[in-house]
Amino acid sequence: MEEVTVKVNPMPRIGDKAPDFTANTTHGPIKFSEYNKGKWVVMFSHPADFTPVCTTELTAFALEKEFFAKHNAKLMGVSIDSIHSHIAWVNNVREKMGVYMDFPIVADIDMKVAQLYGMLHPGESSTAAVRAVFFIDPEGSIRLILYYPLNVGRNMEEIKRVLVALQTADAKKVALPVNWKEGDMAIVPPPKTLDELTERLANTTYEKVDFYLAKKSLN
Ligand code: BEZ
Repeated sequence: MEEVTVKVNPMPRIGDKAPDFTANTTHGPIKFSEYNKGKWVVMFSHPADFTPVCTTELTAFALEKEFFAKHNAKLMGVSIDSIHSHIAWVNNVREKMGVYMDFPIVADIDMKVAQLYGMLHPGESSTAAVRAVFFIDPEGSIRLILYYPLNVGRNMEEIKRVLVALQTADAKKVALPVNWKEGDMAIVPPPKTLDELTERLANTTYEKVDFYLAKKSLN
């Protein structure tokens, strides 16, 4: 049997610039850096059109359209399928389920985007992208990456939670503790000087465990 060689690029990492590309999508050709201008982009790959887990996931993204718009975020799907397959699948899901997956889905038939973003994990599959989610900020930096295997669907609540967490951490210049959700207290960065330590010890508004672990309300 002929051996299939998959080119695996270095994986983009948190803090890297999102690799730019132009690709054919269900909305026509899109240059990623143009699409990303002034907006967060949540870009997610799925293994294949017309498959059950992927259908549950992409319909979940479509149903959260208003949430993402409210949070200044655009959606973009990617899979190693043709544009014809994407169009037929989007149309089928609209007819059968009444859900319109109307965000652009990249037809990555030459695997260019999948390779650029490290969505191909040959130990899992050499022909299909794994379930990746990239959170890219309006400056074009990759801020958070999630990877799931082919047989486990993603968690939409977690995807929404981390988008809000990233935006809150940026806006309020805080770090956020385990299981943080909107409305919860935030971590106050630990003191970096002795003066800051004195200030921290005297502060009566923070919820303090010790000088290095203090929380404050964001309201
Ligand atoms: C699915 O979406 O159901 C699926 C896709 C590829 C491999 C396994 C499951």
